[in-house]
Amino acid sequence: MKVVHTIEALRDQLRGQLRVAFVPTMGNLHPGHLSLMKLARQHGDPVVASIFVNRLQFGPNEDFDQYPRTLAADIEKLERERDVYVLFAPNEREMYPEPQNFQIQPPPDLGGILEGEFRPGFFTGVSTVVLKLFSCVQPSVAVFGKKDYQQLMVVRNMCRQFQLPVNILAHETVRDTDGLALSSRNMYLEPAQRAEAPQLFATLQALKARVDQGHSDPEALERQAVEHLRGRGWKVDYVSLRRQRDLLPPTVGEIQAREPLVVLAAAKLGSTRLIDNLEI
Ligand code: PAJ
Repeated sequence: MKVVHTIEALRDQLRGQLRVAFVPTMGNLHPGHLSLMKLARQHGDPVVASIFVNRLQFGPNEDFDQYPRTLAADIEKLERERDVYVLFAPNEREMYPEPQNFQIQPPPDLGGILEGEFRPGFFTGVSTVVLKLFSCVQPSVAVFGKKDYQQLMVVRNMCRQFQLPVNILAHETVRDTDGLALSSRNMYLEPAQRAEAPQLFATLQALKARVDQGHSDPEALERQAVEHLRGRGWKVDYVSLRRQRDLLPPTVGEIQAREPLVVLAAAKLGSTRLIDNLEI
C-alpha cells in the first residue's frame, strides 16, 4: 500500500486510472470501515482510502481535538487486509490551505433535520469535505456506510444534483455480536455503558416489530421507544420514523401501505453520543 500525504503525490499515483473506488474515513479504523474497503474492491480498481479528521464537520463543543488519531495502527490494519492500493492521509494544511469560504450547503429539509438539527453545520462540513476529496481522488465509485444513514443520503443527493460522475454504494451497518453498531466512539464507553449500549439497536428492532405487527401511529411508536431508553438512563436526542426516500415523516396511511421506512436514533450514554438506524 502506498501512503501519500499530498494531493500531488495522490495524483501521481492515480494518473490515467478510470475505475478508482474510494472509501473516505476519519481513521481509527474498525472492522466496519475495513468491510467498506472490501466492497470497494469488488466495484473498482484501484481502491483508494482516505483518513482525514475534518474540522469543518465538528461543532465548537464537539470532540474534534479528542477524536482518536491512530494513523500507524490504521496503516497496519489496511496492510493486513490488502484491499487498499493508495491511502491518502492529508494534513489540515493540505486540505484547507486557506479558509474554506466556498462551502456546500445541503437543503434544510435534508441537512437541517435529525443529525443536522442537533449538529448545526455538520452536513455542510461533510458535504464540503466529500466534494473536495472527490475532486482530489476523482473516483468512479465511492462507498459509504448505512450506519450514517442521513450522511449517505446527503452525499447521494449532492452527487445527483451536481451531476458528479461518482456512483455511490451503500454498505450495511457492521455490528458487534450483541448488536451494537461499530463506531470509533464506542471506545469512550465505560464497561457498564458498553453493556447497556446494545439497547439502542434493540429499541429500534422492537419499534420495527411493532410496525410489522400493524402499529401505524408514528408518534406513539417513537414515544414508546424514547421512554424505554430514558427509563434506562439514556439522554435521547431523537428516535424518528422516516420515509427511506427523503427522510420526511410518513403519514399513518403510508405506514399502513408499507412505504419503505427507516427509524433513526441518536442518544447519549454519559457524554458518549451514539447513533443507529434500522430500515423497515
Ligand atoms: P467515519 O466516521 O470514519 O466513517 C467512514 C465511513 O465508514 C462512513 O461511510 C461510515 O458510514 C462508515 N462506517 C462507520 N461505522 C460503520 C459501521 N459500523 N458499519 C458500516 N459502515 C460504517 O463518516 C465519516 O467518517 C466522515 O463523515 C467522512 C464521510 C469521512 C467525511 O469526513
